[in-house]
Amino acid sequence: MARIAVVAGDGIGPEVVGEARKVVDAVLPGVEVTEYDLGAARYHRTGEVLPDSVLAELAGHDAILLGAVGDPTVPPGVLERGLLLKLRFAFDQYVNLRPSRLWPGVASPLAAVKPGEVDLVVVREGTEGLYAGAGGSLHRGTPAEIATEESLNTRHGVERVIRDAFARAARRERRKVTLVHKTNVLTHAGSLWSRTFEVVAAEHPDIATEYQHVDAAAMFLVTQPQRYDVVVTDNLFGDILTDIAAAVTGGIGLAASGSINPDGTYPSMFEPVHGSAPDIAGRGVADPVAAVLSAALLLDQLGHADVAARITAAVSAELAARSPEVAVRTAEVGDRIAAQAVG
Ligand code: NAD
Ligand code: IPM
Ligand code: MN
Repeated sequence: MARIAVVAGDGIGPEVVGEARKVVDAVLPGVEVTEYDLGAARYHRTGEVLPDSVLAELAGHDAILLGAVGDPTVPPGVLERGLLLKLRFAFDQYVNLRPSRLWPGVASPLAAVKPGEVDLVVVREGTEGLYAGAGGSLHRGTPAEIATEESLNTRHGVERVIRDAFARAARRERRKVTLVHKTNVLTHAGSLWSRTFEVVAAEHPDIATEYQHVDAAAMFLVTQPQRYDVVVTDNLFGDILTDIAAAVTGGIGLAASGSINPDGTYPSMFEPVHGSAPDIAGRGVADPVAAVLSAALLLDQLGHADVAARITAAVSAELAARSPEVAVRTAEVGDRIAAQAVG
């Protein structure tokens, strides 16, 4: 049986992950789950963010389910970089997979978009870019302050994520890959991305391709999200575009993701796209659907495609039955999805 590590994290993380676990326990009794207490509380208690011993233990699991990290009481970056990004980097999770679909019954803020019309997946590079480059500041706190952040892009890193995007497109109906970058300004990284894209595209004559600058892609995701199938892009562009894609398909509370190590050398990590939502934490009103769908992606990756499909169908039923006038209650949503998924 699969061994899953759970890092519930901060804010609404434990609330939504609790519901995801409820659903997993219901459909796959006997699954071995180990909880790791990491995040703001541990940091305040012990000063630790991600001890090496815990990293080593996590490496021994088949997959990780993560809630969210980040808390207003901790300086920005300490947990985000020291915990979340450290896990993505240490476990070489270079494919940050972020599907968006408009579920039946869910209203898009775009009046013209109908359920079924939006079904896209962003393949976001997960280990490089501005997230991994050097940075520094000079004359900090003075009027002469200078800050730099460098974007790191390697041929190896760019090529492997582009290859993954084409492989995914080959398994989808529309078979189209859109490269999103900013080649008109970022002429070094942009050139590397577009030349590599051309090489891989030439090996896949049956897959349609297009290129868009990221500013135009941000616009088209709002005006015409139907036009996308697979989108491949760098780490920061992918971060921003996937919040937009989530918003146009019913909100960040529904958006699931996988930080995947396709080689299987390390565990992949499954996590909602959203954060710890300190503004609603502790009130039992966070939508657990993103966490539940992330758990379904996890089970699918571990070979439980049948169980994952049952969870996804249960989520679809939950969303179809939802009334926009009735507020989400975290635990009730989890109860209904679990009951429906068990059948
Ligand atoms: P956020 O995603 O936490 O919240 C943005 C808005 O969306 C808030 O109004 C929030 O209430 C709402 N929201 C988020 N998830 C929701 C859900 N499941 N149901 C209903 N509403 C939901 O983003 P933020 O406010 O920019 O960041 C808050 C903290 O989370 C920061 O510390 C940030 O660094 C961290 N963060 C962590 C992750 C992660 O762990 N993967 C992702 C994004 C942000
Ligand atoms: C996400 C988050 C993270 C990211 C932060 C918290 C490091 O925004 O998972 O989308 O930028 O990747
Ligand atoms: Mn984000």
